[in-house]
Amino acid sequence: MASIVTGSDTTTLDLLLEKVCGDTGYDFREYKRGTVTRRLERRLRVTGAKTYLDYMEFLDAHPEEYQRLADDFTIKVSGFFRSLYTFQQVTRLVLPELVAYKRNRGEWELKFWSTACARGEEPYSIAILLAEFLGNRRQDFDISIYAADISRQALKEAQVGIYSPKDVEGLTPTVRKSYFTRYDKGYVVNSNIRQMVSFSYFDLTSTMRQPFVNLDCIFCCNVLIYLQSQLQERVLSMLYDSLATPGYLILGEVETPTNSLRDKLECLDSKARIYKKNGRT
Ligand SMILES: C[S@@+](CC[C@H](N)C(=O)[O-])C[C@H]1O[C@@H](n2cnc3c(N)ncnc32)[C@H](O)[C@@H]1O
Repeated sequence: MASIVTGSDTTTLDLLLEKVCGDTGYDFREYKRGTVTRRLERRLRVTGAKTYLDYMEFLDAHPEEYQRLADDFTIKVSGFFRSLYTFQQVTRLVLPELVAYKRNRGEWELKFWSTACARGEEPYSIAILLAEFLGNRRQDFDISIYAADISRQALKEAQVGIYSPKDVEGLTPTVRKSYFTRYDKGYVVNSNIRQMVSFSYFDLTSTMRQPFVNLDCIFCCNVLIYLQSQLQERVLSMLYDSLATPGYLILGEVETPTNSLRDKLECLDSKARIYKKNGRT
């Protein structure tokens, strides 16, 4: 096999991605090729490899490079209430309807999933949103916000829940004061918010069964953009199956959902890309 692997072409790229997947489980084979090659170019530069074949040899000799590669592949830029408009629309269009529905049926569980939670800003924003929306009624509900990602480093930091002054500068002083405690050089998320969120590793591209079912609301923001359309379809179909009926899917302002999803779900806001699952189709 080595004899045909001579350059930085598509075939060797495929082989390299196969190797990474086989050796680590990180499956970037159906990520958009532009992102993949840009990220790999960086790793080639840093490691001094001239071709993908050189880089495969480097990986064999330095297995610790796999983790650096995975870390470079995953773009963890995030922020509290990153798309303010989206969160405002969730408060306007989703929460009143969802909470009223639960209350009418005497159901007191609220289950959310932040599918690519990065360093925790998104799930903690959801928890703060719920705390603000529910106020005193919060005690009535058993709230679970599942937060997952493939970056173990990001998950570790998310769990610690400490953020720099820069990370929280976009929050209003009231929110900062109500939900964070000044800690040494940063801010730590208060325990009443943290206890709503549980972090775990989950690869959205995995072909395993969905980890959660009967969810009231799923956030899948700023991650599908990195995936090729076929894989986006597969992920969205898995998310659809994870939703309760009614259930809400929040894609945010950046993602562009596939046609099949648009057929299955009711669009509540086309800018924030908020969708509702009404019933089986
Ligand atoms: C740009 S951040 C988005 C964070 C957050 N959702 C937001 O909108 O601010 C993308 C995140 O997706 C994660 N990610 C990439 N591929 C993933 C996958 N296959 N499964 C789960 N998370 C993934 C990355 O590790 C990274 O934390």
